[in-house]
Amino acid sequence: MKPRVLQVGRLLPALEQPLAQQYDLHRLADEAEPDAFLAQHGAGFVGLVTSAGGMGAPAALITALPSLKVISSFGVGLDRIDLGLARERGIAVGYTPDVLNDCVADTAFALMLAVARRVPEADRFVRAGRWAGGATFGLGRKVSGARLGVVGLGRIGQTIARRASGFDMPVRYHSRRPVDGVPWQHEPSLLELASWADYLVVITAGGAGTRHLIDSAVLDALGPRGFLINVSRGSVVDESALVRALVEHRIAGAGLDVFEHEPRVPQQLMALDNVVLLPHVASATQETRAAMAQRVLDNLAAFFADGRLITAVL
Ligand code: NAP
Ligand code: 8YV
Repeated sequence: MKPRVLQVGRLLPALEQPLAQQYDLHRLADEAEPDAFLAQHGAGFVGLVTSAGGMGAPAALITALPSLKVISSFGVGLDRIDLGLARERGIAVGYTPDVLNDCVADTAFALMLAVARRVPEADRFVRAGRWAGGATFGLGRKVSGARLGVVGLGRIGQTIARRASGFDMPVRYHSRRPVDGVPWQHEPSLLELASWADYLVVITAGGAGTRHLIDSAVLDALGPRGFLINVSRGSVVDESALVRALVEHRIAGAGLDVFEHEPRVPQQLMALDNVVLLPHVASATQETRAAMAQRVLDNLAAFFADGRLITAVL
């Protein structure tokens, strides 16, 4: 008998298809009354497939699945998975670390270059016929050689820091603990890092421990010549403080892939030219999403074969 697996949220067709072939799969998104469905059928599921940037696995969902043995998450962020409850219940939790480092790091640079060199704004300028009409596009800011501050030097943070050498950027980083064996200077004070940096890239974990780590004091330390890039979680930045800092020109600009209340983006940001906005797509390339999908499948297959995940959180 195939293990019974619940899928929450829609996933890539290239992941949904093999899931449906390999498991007795049910998609919660197909249910008109998901709560009623879970109350009636929740006890039948032993596996859960979810996504890090989507619904995750909150306590209410885990509680509704009393026979659950394994969660396989598409992505690396753990802020939407109730790990405490999973640990208490002895549920294995798998995720997809490392396979997305390159693309998230590339997106951080895409945002840096886009906002500093005003790429979307210049594109709009050409399309509007303003170049052809004889207008002059203003100057951007230089990325190569500028100071890069990385907030969170984990798997992705280190990949971003390595990329910076190709841009001749001096790098410093802030995290709670210095990382052994890396060539970059640890800055124990986030405020000091922000006042040193021209570009401050946020790539910490999300969740309660980092909520509003980037507040108005950090933004003021970054200053009117500094750019903020966020590819971690919207919750890490105090979005109201960021909007105020941008509107009042207390920072130079921002490149944002993530927001506090996705998919809602503050209306004030839409009106600003010194902001580049992405719809949470830092890992969204065909290659990386295929690798993430494969890891979701491999984690589940390994768990059902011998109880061990390939890449386990728990
Ligand atoms: P990771 O290897 O676990 O690194 C997380 C880093 O955050 C560590 O360096 C950690 O260092 C630091 N950190 C945690 N709490 C902190 C705090 N209070 N202050 C300062 N630094 C803190 O994770 P990763 O694989 O690099 O991924 C990082 C995050 O990126 C994920 O959790 C996810 O939310 C986000 N992400 C976003 C996308 C996207 O699509 N935009 C894609 C992938 C990942 P210390 O513990 O020493 O402080
Ligand atoms: C999401 C992400 O997984 O890995 C993460 O933490 O935020 C992304 O890679 C992706 O957007 C699907 O939810």
